[in-house]
Order: sequence, then structure tokens, then C-alpha cells
Amino acid sequence: MSDWRPGEKRADTASMLRVNQAGEYGATRIYAGQLAVLGRALPAAHQIARMAAQEEAHLERFNGLMGERRVRPTLLQPLWSVAGFALGAVTALMSEKAAMACTDAVETEIDRHYSEQLAELGDSDPELAADIRAFQAEELEHRDTARAHGAQDAVAYPLLSAAIRAGCRAAIELSKKI
Ligand SMILES: [Fe+2]
Ligand SMILES: [Fe+2]
Repeated sequence: MSDWRPGEKRADTASMLRVNQAGEYGATRIYAGQLAVLGRALPAAHQIARMAAQEEAHLERFNGLMGERRVRPTLLQPLWSVAGFALGAVTALMSEKAAMACTDAVETEIDRHYSEQLAELGDSDPELAADIRAFQAEELEHRDTARAHGAQDAVAYPLLSAAIRAGCRAAIELSKKI
């Protein structure tokens, strides 16, 4: 709390944990939807399964911190379960490249979101900041993996990407509050 001065707003770490846990949960559901459609035999599926395993670890960590700090999950969890799975399944049905464009878009927004949180946290919560920093590096690696697998060659990439990014931003704002 060394940065904090009286009258300044403290970072709302309960809200941060809530939205991060929701996001990581959503990520596991997106990848589950993609894998359900693509099957695990395709080369892309191998990459997706690897990224999904990392999302599971991120989710587990935020679940643990929420338990320790007695933070409730978002009430929208059931919605993110369905919406995440549907987003993954629909993009995978479009094409492998569209599935990768989905990952590209989602991770771009998560990266932006984690950067904002790190700026807001400063050095007020080193434990949480360290996790966010570590996960952010993996999210960027997921985005780069998606691009290496042709995300930006997907049909209607700009439109698809813009729509998914807008959806992510809406989900982030809702999960902070509800
Ligand atoms: Fe993640
Ligand atoms: Fe990720």
C-alpha cells in the first residue's frame, strides 16, 4: 500500500478477482467448445488443448485466491458457461482459422484488461499482480500462437475480430459489477 495516499481510491481487488475468474472460466469454455467441434486429432487441436490446460491453471489460481479472500464469483457464471462454449463451437464450425481468430481477439482484450489492472494495482497487491503478470505473458503467447495458425487469414477477420472483442469488453464490464 506504499503508493496510497488518503483520499485516493484503493484498487477494488475483490472486483478484479471476480472479473478475472470469470474471464479465465470463459476461456476454458471457449476452448471446450472449439475442441468439441474440431476433435482432438487435428494439429490445431493439439495447440488448443495446450492453451486450454493453461487456462485451467489460471482459473484454479483465481478460484484459490477468491476462496482465501472470501470473494464471491460473478452471478453471470452460468451465462459465461453457455456463451463461451457457443463462441468456441461456432467459430470452430466456421473454420480452424476462425477458431484461431477467436483466440486472437479474446487474448487481445484480456491482455488490455490485465494491463489496465496492473496499472491500477501499482504495488498495492504484489501477490495478485504477480499472478496477473504471469498469466498475461501466457495470454500473449496464446494470441501469437493463434496468429501463427492463420487467425488473420480467417474469412471476414476484421468483422469477426471486432465483434468478439466488443463481446469480451461487454463481458468484462458486466462481470466487474454483477
Ligand atoms: Fe488465461
Ligand atoms: Fe489465454
